Amino acid sequence: MKIPDTYAVIVTAAGRGTRAGGDIPKQWRVLDGRSVIQRSIEAFAGFPRIVVTLSPEDMGRGLDQLSGQVVLVAGGDTRSASIRAALETLEGSGVTHVLIHDGARPLVSPHVIHGVVAALKAGADAAAPGLSVTDALWRAEGGHVTGTANREGLLRAQTPQGFRLDAILAAHRAFPEGAADDVELALRAGLTVTATPGDEDNLKLTWPQDFARAERIMGAPMDIR
Ligand code: CTP
Ligand code: MG
Repeated sequence: MKIPDTYAVIVTAAGRGTRAGGDIPKQWRVLDGRSVIQRSIEAFAGFPRIVVTLSPEDMGRGLDQLSGQVVLVAGGDTRSASIRAALETLEGSGVTHVLIHDGARPLVSPHVIHGVVAALKAGADAAAPGLSVTDALWRAEGGHVTGTANREGLLRAQTPQGFRLDAILAAHRAFPEGAADDVELALRAGLTVTATPGDEDNLKLTWPQDFARAERIMGAPMDIR
């Protein structure tokens, strides 16, 4: 799929990876020869402009073979603050649409990215991948199951989440306290968000055991679509 010249992507990687533990933040760990962040960036190689947010502490780590289309921006204390800093750099640059991706999701597939781009090209103000919930849902307290919840109509949110640049920038400015993700801000701002196909393999590396799962997925035979 040809990515329009006016599309950009933000790969946000300014977090500290507290839950994943380890000696270095999770996005700098190496999976089969390439760092997590390098993989997340390279998934968007077809984009004319890629803004990567990093913690000021990580600016010196360096990325391999940064191509001309990649720009580094210092992130903030929260995910939303990091994204907002990146969005501000795109304002007035001619960019019309932006995809926002977690640097901690290195296994995002072309299929997932293209689903978001296709929805934006078709005129959506906002589009993001979601996965249906197949397990039953429970409520629990103190180690005991205390009830169930209805999973009907629920989706698990993934990234990249795509937006009209002006709309998501306005949403960030209207709600400077931020939110868990950009779709939440878009909804608060009254935007209609199109749900596009997610992918079970597009996991967000969060806990120590997620790295072994990513390696298993990478070692699995290619999914032919
Ligand atoms: N992120 C960011 N700026 C922050 C916090 C998070 O850019 N101030 C990014 C992370 O680098 C990650 C994505 O947002 O790519 C999703 O966040 P999460 O999985 O929570 O990563 P961390 O915040 O780094 O991990 P933890 O919450 O375990 O510390
Ligand atoms: Mg976090």
